[in-house]
Amino acid sequence: MPEQKFKTKASLLLYFLKGAKRWFALAVFFAAMVSVTDLINPKIIGYTIDTILNGLPSSLPAFVNVRLEELGGAAFFRDHLVYVAIAVLIVALLSAFCRFMFRLCNSIAAETLVQRMRNNLFDHILRLPFKWHSENRTGDIIQRCTSDVEQIKMFLAEQLVMLIRSIMLILLALVFMSSISGPLTALSFSFIPIIIGYSFYFHRKIGAQFRIVDEEEGKLSSIAQENLTGVRVVRAFGREKYERERFEKQNHYYTDLWIRLLQLMAAFWSTGDIFSYGQYLAVILFGSYLCVTNQLTAGNYIAFVSYNTMLTWPVRGLGRVIANMSKAGISVDRLRYIMNSEEEKDVPNAVTPDMHADINFDHVSFAYENGSAEILNDISLTVKAGSTVGILGGTGSGKSTLMYLLDKLYDVPEGCGTITVGGVDIRTIKTSWLRQNIGMVLQEPYLFSRTLSENIRIARQSSDMKDVRNAAHIASLDDAIDHFSEGYDTYVGERGVTLSGGQKQRTAIAQMLIRKPPVMIFDDSLSAVDAETDAKIRAALKENVGDATVILIAHRITTLMNADQIIVMDQGRIVERGDHEKLLAQNGIYRRIYDLQMQQSNIEEEVDHE
Ligand SMILES: Nc1ncnc2c1ncn2[C@@H]1O[C@H](COP(=O)(O)OP(=O)(O)OP(=O)(O)O)[C@@H](O)[C@H]1O
Ligand SMILES: [Mg+2]
Repeated sequence: MPEQKFKTKASLLLYFLKGAKRWFALAVFFAAMVSVTDLINPKIIGYTIDTILNGLPSSLPAFVNVRLEELGGAAFFRDHLVYVAIAVLIVALLSAFCRFMFRLCNSIAAETLVQRMRNNLFDHILRLPFKWHSENRTGDIIQRCTSDVEQIKMFLAEQLVMLIRSIMLILLALVFMSSISGPLTALSFSFIPIIIGYSFYFHRKIGAQFRIVDEEEGKLSSIAQENLTGVRVVRAFGREKYERERFEKQNHYYTDLWIRLLQLMAAFWSTGDIFSYGQYLAVILFGSYLCVTNQLTAGNYIAFVSYNTMLTWPVRGLGRVIANMSKAGISVDRLRYIMNSEEEKDVPNAVTPDMHADINFDHVSFAYENGSAEILNDISLTVKAGSTVGILGGTGSGKSTLMYLLDKLYDVPEGCGTITVGGVDIRTIKTSWLRQNIGMVLQEPYLFSRTLSENIRIARQSSDMKDVRNAAHIASLDDAIDHFSEGYDTYVGERGVTLSGGQKQRTAIAQMLIRKPPVMIFDDSLSAVDAETDAKIRAALKENVGDATVILIAHRITTLMNADQIIVMDQGRIVERGDHEKLLAQNGIYRRIYDLQMQQSNIEEEVDHE
C-alpha cells in the first residue's frame, strides 16, 4: 500500500481549510459576541423589576453598580425608564450586528472552503490514472464531489460553529444562572448531560445507516447517469422499460432506506422534546416555588427563565450537531478516498528523449487485474522510427491494450517486459512528454460540446484557423464541414451526438494531425468511413505525416496493406508478422482474411454495377 497523503480526517479538513481559517476564526469570535450580548438583556430586565421598580438590592456585578450609581442609581432610572428601554435596544442592536457579522464571515468562510474543495478535487481527479477512472463509477465520483462536499461545508460552516457557539453559550449561561440561584441552576443543568448523552448514543446508531444511504444514492445516480449517456442504446434496443424498472427498483430501495432513517430521526426528535420540555417544566415549577417562598426575586426568576429558554435550542442543537458529525465524518472519508488515490507520477528525474526513434516492445505481458487472465502475452515488436506498422487482429485480441501501454494509460508491471523508445524505458520518460509526442486517435473518439474548430484544436489551443482547415482537409473532413451551415463554428452536441460516426472519427484524426506528433496511432480510426474515403485519407496522410512513426490498427486489410510491417494478433499474441507480400505467401490467418475481404468487395462491386 502506498503511503496515504491524508492519514486522518482532520488532516484533510485542515488542508481544505487553507485560506478560510481566518474567516472561520472571525465567525467564531462574532458567534461568541452574540452569546454575550444575548445574555445581557435578561440581566437588565431583572435589574429593572427588582431594583428599579421593587427597590431590592441590585444583583448586578459591583463594577456595573458603581457606574449605575454615578448615573443616579435606581431612583434616577425609575424617573427615566426610557433610558432602560434605550439600553435594551442598544444591546439588541449590538446583538443583531454581531449576528450579521457572524453570518457574513461564516458564509465567506464556507464558500471559500467549498470553492477550494471543488477545485482541489477536480484537479486531483484529472490527474488520477486512467485505471482509477475505469475502476470507479462516474456517478459515485460526482456524488462525492457534490453531496459530500456540501455535507462537509455544512459541518464546518454550521455544525462546528454551532458546536462552539453552543458550548460558549452554555458556559456563559452557567455563570449567569448560578449567580442567580445555585439550586435552580443545578436542576436545569442536570438535564443537559441526559440530552447530550442521548444524542451521542443516537449518533453512534445512525452513522452506519447514513453510509448505506449514501452508497445507494451513488448507485442511483450511476444508473441515471449511465442511461443519459447511453440514451441512444437504450432507445435503439427498446430497453426503456427494463431501465425504468431498474431505476425504479433502486429508487424504491433508496426511498425505503431514507424512510427508515427518517423514522429513526423522528423518534429521536420527539424523545428529545420530552427531555427538553421536562427540563422546562421542572425549572418553572421549582423557580415558582423559590419565588413564592421568597428565596428568589421576581426579576431574577424572569431572567433565569429567559436564560433557561435560551439554552433549550443550543443544547438540543448540540445533539443534532453531534448526530450530524457522523455524516460529515463519512463524507470526509469518502473524499479522503479520492484525495488519497495516487496521482499519475513520474519517476524522479524523468527524461524527455527524442521521440522520433525506434519503439521496441520487449517480451511484454499484461493483465488488467492482478492475477486475472493475460490480455497480452509475450509481445515483442520493433517499430522503426518513421516507419508504418499495421496491426490486424480479431476483436479482443489486445490491439488497443497494446497502444494503451505505449501511452502509459496503464503501466506494464515490473518483470512483465519493457517498452522502450530510442532505447529509453518508457517508465522513466516523463508522462506528459510521452503523451504530447504520441498522438493517439482513440477507437471511440470523444468530442466535447464545443464548436468543431474548438474540438479540432483541443490538443493545441494555439493553432490558427489555417492549421484547423489544413488538418480537416487531410482528414477529409472539410467537405462535410462545408455542408454545415455554420461551418467550423458548428456546435457539436454533447459527446458529439450531432455528428455521424465517420465524421466523429475524422474530427478525431484532425485533432491529432493538428499537433503533428512524431508518433501517430490510429486505433481502428477508419472503421466508420467508406472504403473510398478510407483510401483518400490514407493517401492524404501518406503525404502529410512526414517522418512520423505510424501505427495503424484496422480490420480492413486494404487500410494497412501498404504498411512497412504488418503484425497479426490473436488472443494477446503476435501470430504472424511481415509485409503484405510475405504474409500473403505465408498462407495463414492474414491470407484467409484477405481472401474473404476480397471476395466480399468483389460481390459489393458486382452489386454496384448491376
Ligand atoms: N479496462 C479493462 N478492464 C478489464 N479488461 C479489459 C479492459 N479493457 C479491455 N479489456 C479486455 O482486454 C481484452 C483486449 O481488449 P482490447 O480493447 O485491447 O481489444 P482489441 O484488440 O482492441 O479489440 P477491438 O478490435 O474490438 O478493438 C478484451 O478481452 C477486453 O475484454
Ligand atoms: Mg480496440
